[in-house]
Amino acid sequence: MTVVELIERKRDGGRLTPEEWRSLMAAYARGDVPDYQIAALAMAVYFRGMDDAETDALMSAMLASGRRLDLAHLSVPRVDKHSTGGVGDKVSIILAPLVAACGVAVPMMSGRGLGHTGGTLDKLESIPGFETRLSLERAAKQVERIGCAMLGQTSEIAPADRRFYSLRDATATVDAIPLIAASIMSKKLAEGLTGLVLDVKTGAGAFMPKFDDALRLAQTMIALGERHGCPTVALLTDMDAPLGEACGNAVEVAEAIAVMRGGGPADLREVTLALAAEMLLLGAVAADRHVARAKAAEALTSGAALAKFREIVQAQGGHPGAVDDPVQHLPQAPLRVAVAAERNGVVQRVEPRTIGRAISTLGGGRLRVEDDIDHAVGFLVHVKPGSAVRTGEPLATILARDAATLAVAREALGRAIVLGDSAPPARPRVSHRVGAGGVEEVPPSGASW
Ligand code: URA
Repeated sequence: MTVVELIERKRDGGRLTPEEWRSLMAAYARGDVPDYQIAALAMAVYFRGMDDAETDALMSAMLASGRRLDLAHLSVPRVDKHSTGGVGDKVSIILAPLVAACGVAVPMMSGRGLGHTGGTLDKLESIPGFETRLSLERAAKQVERIGCAMLGQTSEIAPADRRFYSLRDATATVDAIPLIAASIMSKKLAEGLTGLVLDVKTGAGAFMPKFDDALRLAQTMIALGERHGCPTVALLTDMDAPLGEACGNAVEVAEAIAVMRGGGPADLREVTLALAAEMLLLGAVAADRHVARAKAAEALTSGAALAKFREIVQAQGGHPGAVDDPVQHLPQAPLRVAVAAERNGVVQRVEPRTIGRAISTLGGGRLRVEDDIDHAVGFLVHVKPGSAVRTGEPLATILARDAATLAVAREALGRAIVLGDSAPPARPRVSHRVGAGGVEEVPPSGASW
């Protein structure tokens, strides 16, 4: 069977067998199949779709193209979290040490920011010396020693996905649910996990803004995890506005540290504790959700999560002073300019995509994978949809490198933060829990759940 025949079959609504996907992805990872043929196939999948079994075949083929983190000898449970990404989403930086401090190993593999969304690796690299390019051997040893490693996808993990994802990015074929699910799960299942929690975002700043699409993506990834013996649950969380106040790189690390000191913004704490509880439940170190939440909250207030974060930073070559004194040791932008409300009113929208793109304009995000970034710049957004403000009160603070980018960021902020006269409808921060058994609505506060 030639590659052209496989493309034709998919184009005409047929399906490829698991063996066909496996040999095609292996050949692609070796460089034996040209990008233009895989691009045509991706477009055929985009329009024709794939059922769960074929999505599994593609995911398994990409997983088999590389190596896996071998942690089976560890006696502790191993659970990771994956977020579909957004603006101000620094949850991973808190969650990995927090959950590790509670006795569940966390081999956390994260990505870089692209487009309007930020990336955990970029944020961590704002800590002087912090190394995210760990070999699988080094990551495995670190997880064994201190219960956590925070690393990037190496060329050893799912190399077929690595090539395929860049190609999709350049051919408008990223936002197809089976392709996203196969791509994400091919990396997560290479981590040797005993459980996985997915944070699937919905709202204007999410990959899948519409609730129904986000739910379908969650269910597709859960089906893949469960078929491969990795119990998987998802929380659907809000990304209609930035999470927390800080949006950028160093500034998000500082806010994550504030949460690990027992403070930080309420929305960020709520989403973090909800995800932490699911991870502790999957790790079987808490009997029920109530106990799991209490245990996670205690790890924040006792300083246990912060102590574990300091250990991780040191193990990965970072300056521990960044944990103890972020202002002194994290990069700081030379310009810090507050932007005030020009009228009395109520905040209607804080548009996350506009904020995310403005971070790139400031130099803090990348437009192409190979771009360098400025870790110091970004925003502190002081208001949320529903906040009442008076003329002259600060809406946000811009952290900029120079006057030219500051001016562009100010203009973007003017578009992103919309004032009106009445409160917009409130949106739950964590709306649904999805598992193999079905979908549950999460009660508003989350606390009594
Ligand atoms: N993140 C991934 O790793 N893959 C996708 O396809 C989309 C987001």
